[in-house]
Amino acid sequence: MWLPCGCTSKYVASSFARRTLASYLHVSGRSRCNVAAFMPEAAGLEGVSGRAALRELSVSNSESFWAAVARHRLCWSTPFHTVQDCDLSRGKIKWFEGGKLNVSVNCLDRHVHTCPERVALIWERDERGSEMKYTYGELLEMTCRLGNLLRRHGVKRGDCVTIYMPTCPLAVASMLACARIGAAHNVVFAGFSADALAERIRDAQSSTVITVNQGVRGGKVTELKKTVDTAVQSCPTVKQVFVAMRTDNPVTMTARDIAMEEYVFSYHDGDVFGCVADIGWITGHSYVVYGPLANGATTVLFESTPIYPDPGRYWDMVERLKINQFYGAPTAIRLLLKYGDQWVNKYDRSTLKTLGSVGEPINTEAWEWYHRVVGDGRCPVVDTWWQTETGGICIAPRPSDPDAEIVPGMAMRPFFGINPVLMDTEGEVLTSNNTSGALCMAQPWPGMARTIHNDHQRFIDTYFQPYPGYFFTGDGAYRSEEGYYQITGRLDDVINVSGHRIGTAEIEDVVNQCPAVAESAVVGYTHSIKGQGVYAFVVLKKGIDVQEADLSRQLNGMVSEKIAKYASPDFIQFAKRLPKTRSGKIMRRVLRKVVESDLEGLGDLSTLDDPAAVQEIIQGHEKLLSKNRP
Ligand code: WTA
Repeated sequence: MWLPCGCTSKYVASSFARRTLASYLHVSGRSRCNVAAFMPEAAGLEGVSGRAALRELSVSNSESFWAAVARHRLCWSTPFHTVQDCDLSRGKIKWFEGGKLNVSVNCLDRHVHTCPERVALIWERDERGSEMKYTYGELLEMTCRLGNLLRRHGVKRGDCVTIYMPTCPLAVASMLACARIGAAHNVVFAGFSADALAERIRDAQSSTVITVNQGVRGGKVTELKKTVDTAVQSCPTVKQVFVAMRTDNPVTMTARDIAMEEYVFSYHDGDVFGCVADIGWITGHSYVVYGPLANGATTVLFESTPIYPDPGRYWDMVERLKINQFYGAPTAIRLLLKYGDQWVNKYDRSTLKTLGSVGEPINTEAWEWYHRVVGDGRCPVVDTWWQTETGGICIAPRPSDPDAEIVPGMAMRPFFGINPVLMDTEGEVLTSNNTSGALCMAQPWPGMARTIHNDHQRFIDTYFQPYPGYFFTGDGAYRSEEGYYQITGRLDDVINVSGHRIGTAEIEDVVNQCPAVAESAVVGYTHSIKGQGVYAFVVLKKGIDVQEADLSRQLNGMVSEKIAKYASPDFIQFAKRLPKTRSGKIMRRVLRKVVESDLEGLGDLSTLDDPAAVQEIIQGHEKLLSKNRP
């Protein structure tokens, strides 16, 4: 789990990168932009005449680059004395030492001083056509009140508050209120179950939880407060739960619960940044909340789903809210593509300037549809690669080269200050083009993660041990003849379902809790809409006599309940045994090839303990597929 420990600095750091991004989203439609207009502070950097030179300097002299950005774009209460003190070989990441600032002041007060009436948030509520707007002035007031409320109830600097809320203004104000009073926030996706929530509360050792009575998404009501009630039963640290009202239905309050009052809202016009991610994921943190607000932009809070009440929802919203930048996930684009162009064409999308994609590789067909149909062929589509650990976008076609070509389905070019490299299996840097390897970063940048909350050793082991001296992303990538990067997917045991990351071990853990199960192995496979689907191999204990269909249902129910619906297996294959090495390790590489039906690619099986196990697995897979064919 990732937390903004010492919360201000992590988010402050990432906001540099985002500020630059927000500016490029505004200008990327124009050709030949001058550097001073794009980044005024570049005027102080010697010898920088164009964006190529700027990008060059951002890597060769990254200290000057980030120092200029930090001084120019943020308000410091105490200026920093040292730009950076990082050592990737030891996983030591320190930026802007001696500097002090408050991220909520940078997101709110700064803009309230100059333009309090500018719209900060447009809440696109689940009920179509009932959007609400909040100005910077109102958001600041809401944040301060909430901050005071938290303080009155004993929340102090260094505490970690768990926020379990749908994407709504009060959730944003809760994040900013924590930052304001120096508390860290642990935002848990409101689709997670009571068990998954409880584990995250325990990890964070939160004494305070903020939630709403009920959530509403896609017309369905979810009992968020009840889920919190169940979760906190196994979280002895929790002393208080703040409850806001999203619907009019009362909920049972206990001695632990504190009701939050309503706030006001008003209606104004503004320029609009539409990132449709949920705030429970990093994209929501960086590009719904902190990035846009640090830049004084108007940001959309999308509470609904792309197909509620119909598949025209996004484009109807673009027309109604006059969205200028639309940032979404490939899984939603692939889904909408299947419903046909008419759902897009019905609506006026002329306000759109840039279309962004994030979370997983976007296939060419989806990219082209997004570009041709949604953007009428006139908006650049930017495939942006990054991850929770990087804080913000690291590889994207813009802004480093505003006029250069954009190739469908490729993140292509490193962002300012980002220095990616590819590694071979021996741990050597691959220097040629037209080559694939493990994606690493050769230099630190301010937005990167600095630790794992309460587990710094794990941080070092995961990201800095595999390739000493480099930050390892866990992804594989291909560098084309022209030097463009294309992300090929995860190299570790993490899968990406509809843009939501989950460790396969977490799902196996739940499956293994079933008394009938001896062991299991979960792998991802290519899924036409979700990007990756979940495929579970299950070995039953000896002498167990159950109907496979019943057990499958039970296992699916367990995973939905203990983690979340999206993690529930699409396929469960029962097997007598799993392919293992002689040292007893499950050969997941083999299982992945089997579920992708890539039998040619099974590779070297000589380390297998018993090669016959693979044949059984292949046969079982074919049987399962033929049963599920329409
Ligand atoms: C994957 C989401 C291909 C990648 C921002 C990464 C992508 C993981 C792309 C991070 C992209 C993200 N093309 N793959 N444009 N963007 N990914 O932490 O595997 O939820 O490591 O952050 O998503 O997922 P996370």
